[in-house]
Amino acid sequence: MKPKNYLVTNFGVMRISVCALVSLLLLGGLSVAQAQQNNPLASDPRAAGAGGVIFRAQCATCHGADAKGIASIEAPDLTLIWTQDGNTDGSVFATIQNGIPGSIMPAHGFPDTEIWMLVSYLRSIATGGATRPFTGDADTGQRLFNANCAGCHRVGGAGSALGPNLAGVTARRSQDSIASSIREPSASIGRGYKPISFLSVNQGRVQGVIKSEDAFSIQIMDSNQQLRGFMKSELSQMNREPNSLMPSFSIAELSDSELNDILGFLDQQR
Ligand code: HEC
Ligand code: HEC
Repeated sequence: MKPKNYLVTNFGVMRISVCALVSLLLLGGLSVAQAQQNNPLASDPRAAGAGGVIFRAQCATCHGADAKGIASIEAPDLTLIWTQDGNTDGSVFATIQNGIPGSIMPAHGFPDTEIWMLVSYLRSIATGGATRPFTGDADTGQRLFNANCAGCHRVGGAGSALGPNLAGVTARRSQDSIASSIREPSASIGRGYKPISFLSVNQGRVQGVIKSEDAFSIQIMDSNQQLRGFMKSELSQMNREPNSLMPSFSIAELSDSELNDILGFLDQQR
């Protein structure tokens, strides 16, 4: 009797995971379809205001009334999301609708129109670009960038990919906000760059940043900039690290004028 029961249980488990896989594929397909969509309310000036009302009722408890995030629960600063690689109206729509598996960010079953209103609102509060002219010396900045930053960042096509592509960053963010990303990288870590470490049964200790994740699997870029996928069932000692993989650059390591030169170089590349 016993072995038979065991088989039945096993089969049950198999069926569940096949169903889960199918629904994951469906979900994946859906979010790809949405990622191609543009906001149909983009040209409606009332949409952002209406979205703000929904935001204060539904989102502010976690993301803060000013949407600047609440660090203690790892709810990110939403005024910065448009500065990250790859965030579009469609991808933010999908994030709000589906939530983020593995985090407390819930799925929201709102009508599409309300989600697009939220997207309009988030666009309207996006942190803007440079607030004053760039005074740094771009040539010195390039030298400093190559020595301190190019190991993890690229500006445009070639270079390293552990950190975000910094091409155009000065068009999207103010000098002060870029400077605080350099002085205090861990204060706000963008999606796609959250650090993690774990032990894999076959591959030993792995450290990197989370590129995507669902209930069963996780895809990371490891510290050697290799994209790698794992089934969660083969992992142990999973640690979500609070500190960015980017080291913080103090004034002793990078003076204000050197930082200014790097900003001058980045601005020249936009
Ligand atoms: C219970 C807390 C909670 C609520 C409520 C909540 N969020 Fe979130 N949200 C989070 C957390 C935590 C994350 C980060 C998850 C992660 O990256 O692991 C997040 C992430 C996001 C992101 C992705 C940001 C990025 O870096 O790309 C968006 C967009 C977002 N939330 C929008 C909203 C909106 C709009 C609402 C209201 C409709 C909302 N959230 C409600 C906790 C919450
Ligand atoms: C060891 C790798 C590493 C080094 C070295 C490094 N960074 Fe970073 N950087 C990252 C990672 C990873 C992120 C994304 C996570 C975060 O925001 O902390 C990041 C984020 C940033 C951001 C925010 C980007 C955005 O789109 O909002 C800026 C700006 C930045 N780095 C500038 C620099 C500059 C300038 C230097 C050199 C002085 C530098 N970084 C050196 C890894 C690195």
